[in-house]
Amino acid sequence: MASRVVAIVGATGLLGRALVAAFRERPDWTVRSLGHQEIEVTDRESVARALEPVPDVVINSTLGDWSRQEDVEFSWRINALGPRLLAERCAAVGAYLVQVSTDYVFEGKSDAPYGEGDPTEPRSIYGITKLAGEHLVRSMLPRHLVLRVAYVFGPGGSRAKRGTDLVTTLLGLARGGGPVRLVTDQVFSPTYAPDAARTVVELVEAGITGTAHVTNRGQCTPYELGQRIFAASGLRPEIVPIRLADLPPGPHRPRYSVLAHGTLGRAGMASPRPWAEALDEYLVQTAP
Ligand SMILES: NC(=O)c1ccc[n+]([C@@H]2O[C@H](COP(=O)([O-])OP(=O)(O)OC[C@H]3O[C@@H](n4cnc5c(N)ncnc54)[C@H](OP(=O)(O)O)[C@@H]3O)[C@@H](O)[C@H]2O)c1
Repeated sequence: MASRVVAIVGATGLLGRALVAAFRERPDWTVRSLGHQEIEVTDRESVARALEPVPDVVINSTLGDWSRQEDVEFSWRINALGPRLLAERCAAVGAYLVQVSTDYVFEGKSDAPYGEGDPTEPRSIYGITKLAGEHLVRSMLPRHLVLRVAYVFGPGGSRAKRGTDLVTTLLGLARGGGPVRLVTDQVFSPTYAPDAARTVVELVEAGITGTAHVTNRGQCTPYELGQRIFAASGLRPEIVPIRLADLPPGPHRPRYSVLAHGTLGRAGMASPRPWAEALDEYLVQTAP
């Protein structure tokens, strides 16, 4: 089969790097990495220039600075206008678009895993604008996949994250010697970026359209995640259990956002392995 071209937008980010690596492992793909230097997703001309020559597949894995996500103008541009401009370009040139989205589109009152078709009700500006991005892609482009992930960890975060992820942030706090405050009343499924990226390759190669949830299997609280990280790393920081309500103001976090993998199941694809297995592998790789 002739080589197909995938353009990965947000290629220098946490998930973007893993996507670049996963597609590079496959012989049938030519990968075009588009970092912020190469494309400004909120600028129509930049989008058109960066997607020339035309790729077969575009993956939008951009995320703006997390500390600015409750600024509605900032969030609207990166989370809604960006996907809209990419979808418009993909529709014009006949490319398939994967739009990466989030568990924050759900309100979080459920106590059973959210399916792809379950009603969305985001409570943060981040979640609202990410949902708008999903709808703008759906409304413009039949050949799209909205891919929802949650609590991504793995090597190499963006400039905004200064190369960190939630695991290295917790390790840094523990090694710093101070107490580590961990939330006990929030439940989610973490996503190991390399595992999710390999599943995205499978979804794209199978030409799956619509919406797909991709996280690692299982669920945990931030408290349980931290305990596992510290135990596996031989660290014994003082852990202070806290409630979601004790956190400083920021985007509303869903209390429960475990994602069911209905699309993967219907496509006959396996869900990524349990999060704790993936975490253990990652910790071995990041050990000092
Ligand atoms: N991280 C999580 O826990 C999480 C959870 C749920 C969903 N998601 C979703 O997963 C996707 C990827 O997240 P991530 O954690 O991998 O993000 P990330 O590490 O912050 O990377 C974001 C990437 O987007 C680039 N970028 C930022 N603004 C841009 C713009 N205006 N135009 C072009 N590129 C821009 C960044 O480049 P620079 O660094 O050079 O600016 C970087 O390459 C996002 O859609 C996010 O909503 C993430």
